Amino acid sequence: MTAGPIGDSSPGRRVAVLGGTGFVGRAVCEHLMRRSASGAIVVPTRRAMHANTLRALPTVDVRVADVHDDAALRKVLAGCDSVINLVAILHGSAAAFEHVHVALPRRLAAACAAAGIRRVVHVSALGVGDNAPSNYLRSKTAGEAILRAAPLDLTLLRPSVIFGAHDQFLNLFAKLQAVAPLMPLAGGDARFQPVWVEDVAEAIVRCLDTPATVGQIIECAGPEVLTLAELVRLAGRWSGHERPILPLPMAIGRLQALLMECLPGQPLMSRDNLASMQTPNIASGTLPGLASLGIAAASLAQVAPGYLGHRDGRANLDALRAVARRG
Ligand SMILES: NC(=O)c1ccc[n+]([C@@H]2O[C@H](COP(=O)([O-])OP(=O)(O)OC[C@H]3O[C@@H](n4cnc5c(N)ncnc54)[C@H](OP(=O)(O)O)[C@@H]3O)[C@@H](O)[C@H]2O)c1
Repeated sequence: MTAGPIGDSSPGRRVAVLGGTGFVGRAVCEHLMRRSASGAIVVPTRRAMHANTLRALPTVDVRVADVHDDAALRKVLAGCDSVINLVAILHGSAAAFEHVHVALPRRLAAACAAAGIRRVVHVSALGVGDNAPSNYLRSKTAGEAILRAAPLDLTLLRPSVIFGAHDQFLNLFAKLQAVAPLMPLAGGDARFQPVWVEDVAEAIVRCLDTPATVGQIIECAGPEVLTLAELVRLAGRWSGHERPILPLPMAIGRLQALLMECLPGQPLMSRDNLASMQTPNIASGTLPGLASLGIAAASLAQVAPGYLGHRDGRANLDALRAVARRG
């Protein structure tokens, strides 16, 4: 299928959103729908239940598909004009990072060539670079390079840590402080420039609509630089459970992370995450940012108390229900 005008999410267009079921992907699908109520949005997922919240969006076409299978990926992309790639993992072996962040972009570039799709918006991360300190960042770097070398009309976005009602970051620190008497924390002086998920989603959709962003790398960062310790403190304060922070030396932090990696399920913090934090997660200032897309980034204080405080509000309601003996 021949691509239409570069980055057009106008009526009748068909966009594939790989990773559309995730935290950022769900916001992207909502913004795409708001922008073009009649354009179709194709979202592949490994498991149908991961797309439950997307089903409320009438123009989203959820497909259970393995995007690591060339034939399945080609089927997902059939009839699409453009692709947004948000597929990523935060934890895993070097091989897993290679599979998801490097092999998939290679596969995607080939599938786009076969389908005649040129327009791709790919979400990477701040801190990428050949000498980046973690498997996560190095594999993201390699994925970017593959897509940049491919015959695509590509826009890359590099966000700092992303916050929003369903984030796995501030919500996690808030939950931990609700149950723990203190917060042991390694890497507390690591610096971030948190950015709101709605701003990132809007940026992705605006990129798709703006031919001038082809070839650009856009840094998505919020208005303030905060350390990890400050973020933990704010999450505790806004959720009503601020606990003292116990700074841990990096060596102990790595040991703690190793123990977490040995437990079943996703670790709260892996050694690779700790390694990523050696690079400041803040905008370089030499590349275009959200302002170049006409987006005035929201600050953490404008948004996060609303959803972190909600937890407390619900807890208060639960207490009142208990008093009233209603569940
Ligand atoms: N969240 C942040 O703070 C942050 C910061 C910087 C950059 N980013 C980047 O932003 C993008 C979106 O992140 P997110 O927070 O929305 O991630 P997320 O919530 O973890 O979502 C990941 C998505 O990728 C898919 N996925 C995960 N592992 C997969 C695998 N092995 N094979 C195929 N699909 C897989 C999932 O789909 P199914 O489970 O439905 O198959 C899901 O839709 C990523 O590129 C991430 O690196 C995020």
